Amino acid sequence: PTVHYIFGDDTVHSVDAVEGDTLMHSAVRNGIPGIEGECGGEMSCATCHVYIEGEWRKRIQAPSDDENDLLEMVDELRPVSRLACQIKINASLDGVQVRIP
Ligand code: FES
Repeated sequence: PTVHYIFGDDTVHSVDAVEGDTLMHSAVRNGIPGIEGECGGEMSCATCHVYIEGEWRKRIQAPSDDENDLLEMVDELRPVSRLACQIKINASLDGVQVRIP
């Protein structure tokens, strides 16, 4: 599946992602700046904060209570905020747009 990472200036970096990988791992693997994934996906750092905009959000499982708790710590929290380490890539997410705060 293709994942489009979108930066603050609206430039897009598209990567060929591996199914089963998370949006965080895929970003780190491809050297996408702004998604650090310091805790390795253990849901303790929130350095993988992203915005999932538009219809894509509806295709992704809603955040767990733990994810919501951690999201409350991030800067620039929006209703479309998610932790990229909690979102697994699958075929239905082909073309997903992930905005980096
Ligand atoms: Fe640390 Fe997502 S990588 S919370």
